[in-house]
Amino acid sequence: MIRLVRLYWRLRGRQNKIKIVALTRAYHGSSTGAASLTGLPYFHQYYEPLLEGVLRMPRPFCYRCELNLTYPACGLACADELEKIILREGPDNVGAFIAEPVQGVGGVVIPPDGYFQRLRQICDKYDVLLVNDEVITGFGRIGHNFGIDRWKVVPDMISFAKGVTSGYLPLGGVIMKEKIYQAMVDAGPDFGLHHGFTYSGHPTACAAGLANLDIIEREKLVQRVRKLAPYLARRLATLAHHPIVGEIRAIGLMAAIELVRSKASRTPLPPEWKVPQRIRAACMERGVIVRQSVDTVAICPPLIIKEKEIDAIVATIDEALADIEHALVSEKLL
Ligand SMILES: Cc1ncc(COP(=O)(O)O)c(C=O)c1O
Repeated sequence: MIRLVRLYWRLRGRQNKIKIVALTRAYHGSSTGAASLTGLPYFHQYYEPLLEGVLRMPRPFCYRCELNLTYPACGLACADELEKIILREGPDNVGAFIAEPVQGVGGVVIPPDGYFQRLRQICDKYDVLLVNDEVITGFGRIGHNFGIDRWKVVPDMISFAKGVTSGYLPLGGVIMKEKIYQAMVDAGPDFGLHHGFTYSGHPTACAAGLANLDIIEREKLVQRVRKLAPYLARRLATLAHHPIVGEIRAIGLMAAIELVRSKASRTPLPPEWKVPQRIRAACMERGVIVRQSVDTVAICPPLIIKEKEIDAIVATIDEALADIEHALVSEKLL
């Protein structure tokens, strides 16, 4: 997508529109280009210099607002940051804004309503492409075909991977708006898109993708996610009484529990206590795989999960939290 942003604007005679705005703690992958858009320090340390022209913007994380504001009184100031960046850098130099509809690795960060609509308006105003990384949210994860559909926004490009084959075979791709494709067509018959990999368009992976999409439609899995989402959210909410649970965030079948040292002050746990890691291990011992990411434990269950299985996951996390809290008290840390 980085290359398509550059290509598109150059085909349209806008030579310098190559800067890309990305969010803090975004995850977009680990190749040099993608890691440059990724906003996690451990993907940069040892690998610099990164790609030039990546501009960083605060993410829409209301629990720990990076602008120290409160929604909705903030008026979506974090989205308006995009306009400030574009004006600072000059609209002729900014090609795209990229974001996950819901940050995954960053801790299941769900943007407030209105956020993406505002970004779409700003992108339209300054001729900047709106690009969504749907590698986690694509194909039903949050109860819509694509995550961004939830906010009824149409981006200019979408990247996808995991859900397209439900992970059974490796496949990823980019969906682009007609206008980007048309720019390549307008470039004439001698234009070639010089981009590809040994395994690009692998027919076996594509066949698995098509079969999987048929199953998603036939079994109405996207609707199923929408039906199950309130159940998952309700069950997870029962964990809120734990002293180290600061916030529970859930959208569709994607959720995270934000762990804190103090609920009242939202003080994070000292990293050296390794609490999320310990909770992850305690869940694993009981047969449930959760993800640990910075201050959260997160889950992303399969779209075919049953209510009884959600109960089992929540009961396991409940026990793991109780175990670790008990241990922290014995270690005189809590
Ligand atoms: C939002 C997001 N984008 C991109 C990636 C990386 O995708 P790939 O490993 O296919 O490059 C991931 C992987 O977890 C992801 O979560």
